[in-house]
Amino acid sequence: MPESVVLVHGGAWAIPEHLWDASVAGVKAAARRGHQVLAEGGSAVDAAEAAVVSLEDCPAFDAGKGSVLTYDGEVEMDAIIMQGAGLSVGAVGAIRNVPNPVRVARLVMDKTPHVMLVGEGANKFASAFGIEQVDPDTLITPYARKELEYYKTFKKTVYSLFNKTEPPSGHDTVGCVVVSASGATAAATSTGGITAKMPGRCGDTPVVGAGAYADDQAGAVSTTGHGESIMKVCLARHITSLMSTGQTPEAAIKGGLEYMESRVKGFGGAIAVSLDGGVAAVFSTPRMPWAYVQGDTLHFGMHPGQHCTEDL
Ligand code: GLY
Ligand code: GLY
Repeated sequence: MPESVVLVHGGAWAIPEHLWDASVAGVKAAARRGHQVLAEGGSAVDAAEAAVVSLEDCPAFDAGKGSVLTYDGEVEMDAIIMQGAGLSVGAVGAIRNVPNPVRVARLVMDKTPHVMLVGEGANKFASAFGIEQVDPDTLITPYARKELEYYKTFKKTVYSLFNKTEPPSGHDTVGCVVVSASGATAAATSTGGITAKMPGRCGDTPVVGAGAYADDQAGAVSTTGHGESIMKVCLARHITSLMSTGQTPEAAIKGGLEYMESRVKGFGGAIAVSLDGGVAAVFSTPRMPWAYVQGDTLHFGMHPGQHCTEDL
């Protein structure tokens, strides 16, 4: 029986230097958290949710606390969670004032016949299930405000993200994929989106097959990067399909990212696990923090080619 894997990412983009240490610490802590949930008897989807909550709570990432701002200076977040058994899924779009959108996505999956709730409806649903609504200012970091000012001053909005050679300072989405020792898969992704996005804009993250996909017959994938590009090529489903033809997670992600670049000139990254315990974290942006626990070892990295290990 293969060993379980809990693999997380903290977003593919440039990642400014002042966030490097916090980003690596954040992904390591989240991978440990997900692993702990599995070790205590939690399911793959419980582990994915717990790991993403840990990432949402870390202000170094663009999700939950630390989310980037809309053009109007507000936080609107997207999240998804998917269980590979039965392809169950729940998602929220443009939700406000909740610290952990992935928790609401989980409730949508477990408690409704729907797949996605957005805007005011998502907030009302969260309240009905006792999810705490917080002062929006508690989700906003000084860095998020500075980034918005930069974009407004230089009039560089989401479209500038197409240019990989001159990346903005930004950071991105978080996510987690899990395969348990018994072969159960799960994926979860959460984001504040892209700085200066139009109010009401939903990105790839809550869209099933774009921001995440999990299938107990193939594996699990969480994506990050330029949302409008990821959506057009259904990146997570594309990568999962390649894995179901026998490709390794690494080959499948590379194939997916190459396809996205060739078709829509988009950049990003993804993490994937296969049913036999194969693991990959691949990105076409300058950096992407990632970490995973397999066996008694924690693996992590952020720069191209970097792969560090430490004992659990
Ligand atoms: N939320 C119901 C489903 O996964 O289809
Ligand atoms: N991938 C995050 C977003 O575009 O919203």
